[in-house]
Formats: sequence, C-alpha cells, structure tokens
Amino acid sequence: MNITTTAGTLAEQQADALLLGVSTDNQLDDAGNQLDQALDGQLGSALASVGFSGKRGEVCTLPSFGRIPAARIVVTGLGEPSSVTVDIIRSAWGEAARAARKAGARTIASAAPSSAFGSAAIRAAVEGIELGLYRHTAYRSDASDQTDVESVSFIGVDDTEAIAAGQKLARGVSMARNLVNAPGMDLYPERLAGRAWEMADELGMECTVYDRAALEEMGAGAIVAVGRGSQREPRLIHLVYRPEGESLGVAGLVGKAITFDTGGVNLKPADGMRNMKMDMAGGAAVIGAMGAIAEMKPPYTVHGVIAAAENMPSHSAYRPGDVLRTLSGKTVEITNTDAEGRLVLADALTFTARQGAEFMIDLATLTGASVVAVGNGAASLFGTDEGLVQDVLQAAEFGGERMWHMPLWDAYRADLNSDIADIVNSGNRDGGAIKAALFLREFSHDIPWVHLDIAGPAWSTREEGYRIKCGTGYGTHTLVTLLEQRAGRH
Ligand code: BES
Ligand code: MN
Ligand code: ZN
Repeated sequence: MNITTTAGTLAEQQADALLLGVSTDNQLDDAGNQLDQALDGQLGSALASVGFSGKRGEVCTLPSFGRIPAARIVVTGLGEPSSVTVDIIRSAWGEAARAARKAGARTIASAAPSSAFGSAAIRAAVEGIELGLYRHTAYRSDASDQTDVESVSFIGVDDTEAIAAGQKLARGVSMARNLVNAPGMDLYPERLAGRAWEMADELGMECTVYDRAALEEMGAGAIVAVGRGSQREPRLIHLVYRPEGESLGVAGLVGKAITFDTGGVNLKPADGMRNMKMDMAGGAAVIGAMGAIAEMKPPYTVHGVIAAAENMPSHSAYRPGDVLRTLSGKTVEITNTDAEGRLVLADALTFTARQGAEFMIDLATLTGASVVAVGNGAASLFGTDEGLVQDVLQAAEFGGERMWHMPLWDAYRADLNSDIADIVNSGNRDGGAIKAALFLREFSHDIPWVHLDIAGPAWSTREEGYRIKCGTGYGTHTLVTLLEQRAGRH
C-alpha cells in the first residue's frame, strides 16, 4: 500500500474516503472542525443523529452528499479522551480502514492521529491500517468482488520515518499471519524453511537450514524424535541479523514451529486438532520479527532460531516411554507425545545459547493450560531475569499485546522427575503452563530467558480493530519493539 503525507485540509482532499478520529467528548479536533465548517456544521449534527458516541470500537460511515470532493467520511471512536493510548489509535485506524474498504474506497485521506503521542501515533495508525486491511486470499478461487485500498495520505503530517517504520513492522506481522494461515498440507517444515530462506535472501540476512541428517549428526535428538512420525522431515532454521555499525548485544529469538500437531501417538480429539496448523505460530512470529528487524536495523546482533517439525502418529513415530537425548546432553523420558513443543524448543534453546546469545526469548503455542489460565486474549510470560521480564512487558504494552507474568515455582519441578531419565516431558495437567515453562528452564543454560506461551492469542475467532480472524501474528510486534526500546529509541 502506498502511504504518503499531504498538505492542505481534509475537506479539499480528492479521495474515496476521509478518516477522522473522535473521542467520547464528541469534540472535533482542528481537522474535524475544518471539515465540519466545509460541511456547514453538518458533520457534528450527522454524528449526533446516527447516535455516534465516540466509544472505542465504534465506527460510522457518513455520505458527504457532494459537498466536498470525497464521497464519504469514516469517523472512528477513540473512547475517553484522557485514556487514549497508542494501541487504541492502532485499533481505531484499523477499524476505520476496514469500514472504508467495505464502502468500496480505494483511496483514503486521513486526519493526523492524536498529537499527544508524536510519531508513535502516526506509526500506530499506519500499523492499524495495514494490519486491519490484512486479508489472506491465496486459497480463494475468486476474489474479484473484493476491492483493495491502494493509497492512504495523512493530512498535516510530515513524519515519513514513522510511516516507513509502521509499514516495516506491519510487513513483519503480515508475514507471520500468512505463515500461520497456510494449511499444514502446504506449509511443512521444509517449506517453512524455504520461506524463511527466501525472506533472508531478499533482506540480506544469513540463513542456515539443518535437515534431519544434519540434526542427527548435531545431536538434536529431541527435534529428530518429534519429527520422526512424519514423512515431512524436521528442520532447524537459523537466521542471523548483524547490524552494520556497533552491536549493543546478542539476542536470541526462538520459536516453536510444529507445522501440524496431531498429538502424535497420544492423538488429539477432533476439536483439539481442528486448528493445529497454527502450532507453528511461535516460529512464524520469530520469522516475521526477523524480517522487520532486517528492515528496521536495530543495533543488536539477532539470532532467530525456529524448530520445525510435524507431529504425526505412524509406525515410525516416537512413543510414550521412549527416552531421547537432547542437544544439551540431558535425557528426556516421553510421557505424552502431545507435549512435543517443549521438546523441539529444548534443542532450539541449547542451539541458540551456543550461538552466544546474551538473552533469549522463546515463543510457543505450548499449552492449552495457558489458555485456561489467562484466556484467549493474552500470553503467559515466564522468565528467569527480572530486567528482561520488565522490558518484554513494556514492549508488549506499546504493541498492544497482552501478557501476564506467571511464576516459575521450584516446588512444581518434582512433578517432572523421571524414574529412568533426567526429566519427563509432561507431568500432571494441573499448572500445565507453569510445568511446561519449568521444563524449558532446564534448557536455558543460565542465560537471561523469557518464555511466552502464546497458545491463546496466536489465533483469533473475532475481528476487532487491527486484530483479524485466524492467525494474528502475535509476538512479532513485541520482539521488534523490545530491541528498539533496549536501544533507547523510544
Ligand atoms: N500445541 C499444543 C498446545 C495448544 C493447545 C496450542 C491449544 C494452541 C491451542 C501442545 O503441543 C499440546 O498439545 N499441549 C498439551 C500438553 C500436555 C500433553 C501436557 C496440552 O496443552 O494439552
Ligand atoms: Mn501437542
Ligand atoms: Zn503443539
């Protein structure tokens, strides 16, 4: 999409739709007042007559009856003026852009979002528009009835850098969404590696892919075991971004990418399997983030490590009772083949630690228990380093990604004791998200580490603001923002 800046007033813009934010006090801002005047005061009364109250999520499309060049005006609610946040702006512009598209608009002229947040507001509005308009049409036989917004111009804004940053971030999130939405039949580990490799090639990043033979030789016995039941062999994908100038540190971003999770021999019931093509969302978030990082160029060396496998039941699948040797050397007794995510992550974390990562963040659709604990709209966050935990929470707030800090209680570790090996992969059901995190901690190699269980927010069944149905791209925004904030850019 072409997003630009323009001088002049909203009223004189030659566009299919004008976009304007209004809060619950129903006070129009300067741009709104100018538009109202051009319409002889009809904007304010029209909003009142359709009962528009400026609440969050509310959006209203009004015709302009030929009084101005633009055919329609889309007004988007911002809620209480005193509680507007950057994420509310992101959401409001996402909702508005979708309303404009629904009305058939191909070109949009938008008022500047609230000036209180400076360039962060512009960037958020751009992200909201790009992500709100996201559509996955690759599998539709006919999309000719759908119009697309081709251009947006912001009035009275000259911050082209903020616009570019918003577009880069949105590209990363959209990449993650595309990967999550791709069916398991098409996006198996080799293909996921191919997509990562293509992206790296395009953006000038290093990319190394380890296939099953290479993983066996390396000693990554956990990834190999999980992938053994499938004809589609596992892959470990290693992306590296190196800054041109000074590097302030080495980050490790690690993602679970089970391209389809049947549960393995411990087969999932139908309902639990329905959406399991999304079980690679952690890996997708890392790939999306690496893409945005390569474009936004933060001063960090970043290793993106994605453990990809398909968890299938077959004559060659791993079984309950099997003992495998992880890359770290620790042995794991399998108690449930459906607890496969923590296994592939164990090897990926060890691999990342060996790259010299100074801190590691992993993302994984790891447990149904996380969804039970914090609901669909939030991730469970665990961490061994309070500073890193706080940094991730702060980055998440800026990006509007809800997460909740959970405990790593040592007392629960006993539930993972094995009679035969160093640890079992699955304990009791109770406290499941915590026990999964405790398992992963064993493979964090004393490096500051944060684990995000994104089983809930990686997938959505609702459309709201810039958050659309199906794959959400959750996590990408937080990862990129974290590196930016650490570098002191905000
Ligand atoms: N991929 C699932 C977790 C999941 C559940 C993701 C719902 C998204 C939505 C994971 O591999 C899994 O099967 N976890 C088990 C762990 C159990 C066997 C200890 C679970 O949550 O039931
Ligand atoms: Mn599973
Ligand atoms: Zn899984």
